[in-house]
Amino acid sequence: MCGIVGYTGPRQAYPVILKGLKRLEYRGYDSSGVALLKDGSISVYKKKGKVADLEESMIGKNIDAQIGIGHTRWATHGEPSDRNAHPHSSSSGKLAMIHNGIIENYAQIKQELQKKGYKFLSDTDTEVLLNFIEDIYLNNDDCSLEEALRIALKRVSGAYCILLIEQDNPDTIIAARKGSPLVIGIGKGEHFLASDASPIIEYTKEVVYVNDYELAIVKPDELILKNLGNEKITPYITKLDMELAAIEKGGYEHFMLKEIFEQPSTIFDCLRGRLDAKEGLIKMSGVDNNIEQLINANRIIILACGTSWHAGLVAEYIIEEICRIPVEVEYASEFRYRNPIVNKGDVIIAISQSGETADTLVALEKAKENGAFIFGVVNAVGSSIARISDAGAYTHAGPEIGVASTKAFTGQLAVLMMIALSIAKHKKTITDDRYSALVLELDQVPEKVQAILKNADELKAVAEKYKNASDFLFLGRGYNFPIALEGALKLKEISYIHAEGYPAAEMKHGPIALVDEKLPVVFIATKDLYHEKIVSNMQEIKARKGKIISIITEGDTATAELSNDYFAIPPADELIAPILTVVPLQLLSYYVGTLKGIDVDKPRNLAKSVTVE
Ligand code: G6P
Repeated sequence: MCGIVGYTGPRQAYPVILKGLKRLEYRGYDSSGVALLKDGSISVYKKKGKVADLEESMIGKNIDAQIGIGHTRWATHGEPSDRNAHPHSSSSGKLAMIHNGIIENYAQIKQELQKKGYKFLSDTDTEVLLNFIEDIYLNNDDCSLEEALRIALKRVSGAYCILLIEQDNPDTIIAARKGSPLVIGIGKGEHFLASDASPIIEYTKEVVYVNDYELAIVKPDELILKNLGNEKITPYITKLDMELAAIEKGGYEHFMLKEIFEQPSTIFDCLRGRLDAKEGLIKMSGVDNNIEQLINANRIIILACGTSWHAGLVAEYIIEEICRIPVEVEYASEFRYRNPIVNKGDVIIAISQSGETADTLVALEKAKENGAFIFGVVNAVGSSIARISDAGAYTHAGPEIGVASTKAFTGQLAVLMMIALSIAKHKKTITDDRYSALVLELDQVPEKVQAILKNADELKAVAEKYKNASDFLFLGRGYNFPIALEGALKLKEISYIHAEGYPAAEMKHGPIALVDEKLPVVFIATKDLYHEKIVSNMQEIKARKGKIISIITEGDTATAELSNDYFAIPPADELIAPILTVVPLQLLSYYVGTLKGIDVDKPRNLAKSVTVE
């Protein structure tokens, strides 16, 4: 979390940084700030609130500078406030720094500095690290700032991506990363630095992804990369294949709505070139090149967080059904701290939209140490998780900006389905007919999602009716149980209504006590193996006067009649259904959130990319 931007070159730095911060705001938005360097003096401006609040507070200020750094924060140490916002200035005022990450041993370093007489103006770990660097810099003869930074970083534990400027160094930004992402855009006589490529794409498509334990010395016409041992590294330049339009709202009121409506095309992009419905074939190089490893897996362990974890749960049902390989789905944050049993023949599937989630990343490092093979299902191209994976398949959903994940989730489901089908086919655990039928069904998903989106207004009416409820219950069975969890998570995230997802049958073991005439209960009750069972569960809720909102299969009048409100989706095989049933739930949450006046792209306390544990 936290977004960072830096610029050095011939342009005015402030507009570049401000625009970049707006693009990175999904990473954190409780306060923001910039430091501009001009004529040997650094001016720092910061403000609690969103980037728009900073922008407003800057009106009338002198913003003339061709080098600067900017930050949008998601608080870890210290409450959101002007004082704790970044950039921070060093005690002498000579240095300014921004930081994304957490310095875990900051308290000890702070004490040492306090003993030396340092005073701190904020509660942040960042200010401690900055003064620690300055202390080394100023108290060691002939020590350059770069050298002081290297020494300091060897001492700290935790995660960081930092950008540092010095008042006497008029055109240089020094950057370093460990655990938090950093991309450097290479322009003509200028450089751009950012947490991801979105602030850069408008100016250049040539970028360098900085790796952990690397330091970058960035001037307008020079980029030097070094490791912490002071050895030079040749920067590896990558070409971005992202367009500016992909990160703009394109006429929609919110990124979330745009991303929900993009799903027919993002799912299509995800299938394109991989799924050949005519031939009845799936080709995925990440899978095909490692097929022996995959079909011989003793066990598959899926590691993920949040919405990606829900995609993992759907995959568990599907892989066990058609590949007959045991699957475990774990929260990466739990996996990394317990003592899991991981053996050589195990395959880890890591699922992540951002590819930067700290818990997932560290869990993977741990699994890798134990000899597991890592297969990444990642959306952000070139991200840390994509890079540490032994093989993988991108979801190709394009940049997802809305904090609540939507199109990345359906992309994950589509990729995981293709992986499962490929393994099953090679392993011969699926009949040819079933395989061909599922390939065909998958091919039809974009069209069916389009049909669902056409009726989005029906969900707006449902949202209007229930927007003032204080709780919601989401129930599903089988492949749709994880979708019930996802529906509840979406609603919580962007409407602040308490919501729980449960397996429909399990409801009798607790949640049924919550049911009264005020409780909306959302059933995912499409036609599948469990249909009769879930209809019985609906009866149980009806008998207790709960309000039933159901997602049903078109033409299922009996289930419609049982419901207070329903939304019908096109018929689909039960393995494919989750990619469809989640879409109305995304829309329902979106409408409830917006009708309540919530900024659904930036709901309180959340961040899109959780790069701290
Ligand atoms: C955050 C986001 C969620 C996301 C989760 C995992 O909590 O708000 O939308 O599902 O992180 O992120 P990842 O990028 O690893 O999928």
